[in-house]
Amino acid sequence: MSTSGTNPNEAWGSRIGLILAMAGNAVGLGNFLRFPSQAAANGGGSFMIPYFIAFLLLGIPLMWIEWGIGRNGGRFRKGHVPGMFAAIWHHPAAKYLGVIGMVIPLVVLIYYTVIESWTLAFTWFSVTGDYWSANTPESMQAYLASYQAIGDSSVHAVWKPFLFFFTTLAINIWVLSKGISGGIEKLAKIGMPILFIFAIILAISVFMIPPGENGIGAVQGLEFIYKPNFSELKNAKVWLAAAGQIFFTLSVGMGTLQCYASYLSTSDDIVLSGLATAATNETAEVVLGGSIAIPAAVAFFGVSGAMAVAQSGSFDIAFVTMPLIFQQMPGGQLLGAMWFGLLFFAGITSSVAMATPVVAFFREEFGYRRETVAWIIGGVALVFGLLTILWLQYGFLDEWDFWAGTFGLAVFAFIEVVLFMWVFKPEEAWKSLHQGADLRIPGGYKFVMTYVTPLYLGVILVAWAWQQAFPILTLQNVKPGTEFYIHASRLIIVAFIVFFLVMIRMAWKRNGYRDSEGFVEVTNTPAGTPPADPRHTEVAG
Ligand code: PHE
Repeated sequence: MSTSGTNPNEAWGSRIGLILAMAGNAVGLGNFLRFPSQAAANGGGSFMIPYFIAFLLLGIPLMWIEWGIGRNGGRFRKGHVPGMFAAIWHHPAAKYLGVIGMVIPLVVLIYYTVIESWTLAFTWFSVTGDYWSANTPESMQAYLASYQAIGDSSVHAVWKPFLFFFTTLAINIWVLSKGISGGIEKLAKIGMPILFIFAIILAISVFMIPPGENGIGAVQGLEFIYKPNFSELKNAKVWLAAAGQIFFTLSVGMGTLQCYASYLSTSDDIVLSGLATAATNETAEVVLGGSIAIPAAVAFFGVSGAMAVAQSGSFDIAFVTMPLIFQQMPGGQLLGAMWFGLLFFAGITSSVAMATPVVAFFREEFGYRRETVAWIIGGVALVFGLLTILWLQYGFLDEWDFWAGTFGLAVFAFIEVVLFMWVFKPEEAWKSLHQGADLRIPGGYKFVMTYVTPLYLGVILVAWAWQQAFPILTLQNVKPGTEFYIHASRLIIVAFIVFFLVMIRMAWKRNGYRDSEGFVEVTNTPAGTPPADPRHTEVAG
């Protein structure tokens, strides 16, 4: 029987488990699908300079800030951002600002599990050699399109995408219902090593592809990504894309790292662990994510061919180009299963994370059982996931990815930096980050986190508003005929926001919280200590 009631106490089982789970949260489809296509679409070497700058000035600071906000919330047993913000800022608005930290992960969860289900399906199609006859770009594109588009049963039966989607959701719900150490940590301990092994094998295989007659091979792919190119640096779009990628890949600006960190105690280190998480993610992204899809695509199709695929659609490199390449490689079926299997493990260790803020909210504030919330989230993801599948062709998913998966992150991150570094005050923030720390953050970073990070975020948001807000808000770039679906996707996000605002209000009323007083600190139990419940204390004693 799981812990239920209003005082759920969860904790990570071990430090290595925590780091693997945090890395599992961060390493996701973003590293292996989104990174290569973003790098290619933004000119390769010209993307990497703003990318690294964003990593140093936004990614690392926000990683620490979010662990700090999360662990501080954990002192009051708050695993959701509304509670964490209210713990820092004793103002009625604080809790409502936190709504973003629940809606973003929920919306991303819905479309992310849809994509995750494709990776499960394609793992199966690789094992069975199902796409082996689709050996031209056109036929492979048709193979993917028939899977994605409802009603196109030219290759796939209509029920197939639904079956894989249900299966994916069911696995997610099952892991979630097992809790933090019993579900998420265990999944990460199995999934992360497999993911790294598969990625290393794939990268080695890619570099063993012999160069073509013109001498172009995988190495030219690396050159394309990594050779610095300063020509595009004047283009604000590249800076925005790079910052957006840093957010998405590190899972910052979402509410999930904070939730994971809330299960730590003040005697646990967060400085070194946060840095280790960021470093693991960047290794998976830049070293492994950069060494598979693009170099393979360049080896087979040349630089311009690979770029053309990347620009034709963000999923084409992974789901069209890679299957074509596997068909020409020795052991291709196995390599294909490893590629899509790797994507599936990367995806599921992230998607379970996206559900945790909502789980924490309903358990902590309304006393729901973990299993119950997991099933409710599964139901919501099912309904809206089906909508995502049905309306995929009208740009519904892309619209959600823009608002929740790109724009929302920068807004949310900006609020967090201001709350943690300014409302909490730099000295307090610094002290809080260093409780239990195994490493001191270099002093210069205090300046970066107090001034540079918020300024950088502010400039990004203003530049975005300047360049893109008007055409986006007025639907100038959407395909004619899809306006209804774009409006629908935006309205659903608004509806989620309104729903959670009401729930937050109800929670505060129900539990008698006073905004001006903050919360009562829950006795500072080190991680792993059972709750202060007489039945448990006896056992522990
Ligand atoms: N960081 C994950 C990735 O790279 C995505 C993610 C988003 C994870 C939101 C958790 C929360 O794919």
